[in-house]
Amino acid sequence: MAAYSLRASSGIASTHIQLKPHSDSPSFKSLDLSSRLQRVFPKSSVKTRKLKERISASVKTQSSSDTMKVDITLSPRVNSVKPSKTVAITDQATALVEAGFSVIRLAAGEPDFDTPAAIAEAGIVAIREGYTRYTPNAGTLELRSAICHKLKEENGISYTPEQILVSNGAKQSILQAVLAVCSPGDEVIIPAPFWVSYPEMARLADATPLILPTHISENFLLDPKLLESKLSEKSRLLILCSPSNPTGSVYPRKLLEEIAHVVARHPRLLVLSDEIYEHIIYAPATHTSFASLPGMWDRTLTVNGFSKAFAMTGWRLGYLAGPKHFVAACGKIQSQFTSGASSISQKAAVAALGLGYAGGEAVSTMVKAFRERRDFLVKSFGEMGGVKISEPQGAFYVFLDFSSYYEKEIDGFGVIDGSESLCRYLLDEAQVALVPGDAFGDDTCIRISYAASLSTLQAAVERIKKALISLSPAVPA
Ligand SMILES: Cc1ncc(COP(=O)(O)O)c(C=O)c1O
Repeated sequence: MAAYSLRASSGIASTHIQLKPHSDSPSFKSLDLSSRLQRVFPKSSVKTRKLKERISASVKTQSSSDTMKVDITLSPRVNSVKPSKTVAITDQATALVEAGFSVIRLAAGEPDFDTPAAIAEAGIVAIREGYTRYTPNAGTLELRSAICHKLKEENGISYTPEQILVSNGAKQSILQAVLAVCSPGDEVIIPAPFWVSYPEMARLADATPLILPTHISENFLLDPKLLESKLSEKSRLLILCSPSNPTGSVYPRKLLEEIAHVVARHPRLLVLSDEIYEHIIYAPATHTSFASLPGMWDRTLTVNGFSKAFAMTGWRLGYLAGPKHFVAACGKIQSQFTSGASSISQKAAVAALGLGYAGGEAVSTMVKAFRERRDFLVKSFGEMGGVKISEPQGAFYVFLDFSSYYEKEIDGFGVIDGSESLCRYLLDEAQVALVPGDAFGDDTCIRISYAASLSTLQAAVERIKKALISLSPAVPA
């Protein structure tokens, strides 16, 4: 058996970054953080890059002392893809917590609630009853029928079970849809700020992401005129996400209708409507499914899932609904990729959809808590000079414009030159983990996930405010 090893061709002293202790940290510690921080914040990765350049890979068989070179080239496809920054930062913050730092983690995109008991119980019963085998590739008929019922009742869209494909999370549903409909050279139109994975998924499909900016002053909503001006025969897929990760914006029905009018004039253009945060919405905002708009059913791929509203991130279950031709194509990919999703999770998902309209009381209790937290953050940051806010109408993120704090030089830290270095500063100085806006295509902002208790958020706000006092805004917002 071969033992693989990475060997540095020359020794390089590792860099020690001393994380300042927060006042409520147990003790001051020196930690070798460079490799982790540099992985998360690539702009500061000069040393890491130099190290990588000087690393040679070798494979050494256990039976022989001969070392032979191995071609470690990766495919252009994988080289074109960036790793997820949200996952990297979450891992980084977890590593710091494990090392004894009292880091407040507000980077993750997952609810802090447990899966509602009735759903968990259905999973346990499935295991006990031996419901533990492969299911059909597209998902059980029981679950697909329940999804059809939900889409009809809650979203006003009619599908039959063969127009539904259940996958291992909405992420898989989206990737398969992009792979199924895009050809090399096609454009995938993505309004920014966007969920980090959309452009990378387009690249995986050899398509080109075309990013359309939106503005905080317009609640980060896409301007249909801008959309119209950017469409061409290359435009294949428009990805909409409402409620949005990272901004929490919700597209009003009227605006979606205007977008639908534009889409209708471009016969090649399909729409992927990511509705995974549908239930986490704050009245008076309401959710509109794009496929329910006149003329849009035929060209819309609706994606939804159980991770967010039902606090089921670890169960890995999402789904796609759309015209049979496209859904079958996605199913073909899935059949050679992962096959059907977990039998246990599918039983739990049937129980989730049985909780009542929009998830019933279990979900509305979580939404109420999210709303309180949103209100707290909007008020707290609203009182702070130099921060611009668009009040989120859904999801559990607030995307704040901190750009007036940029260009400041801090002793022992350097210049804050964008969202990435501000996040690094806040992790270092305040020990609060946030995600830089540049990961979402908007460097002026920072994303705060409020999937954390109110008391945790209160502590985080205090720390952030304290750390930013020394950076009083260069330009008033
Ligand atoms: C906008 C959006 N879409 C899709 C997903 C994927 O969710 P999952 O794969 O957990 O179902 C996420 C998760 O963070 C998301 O934020």
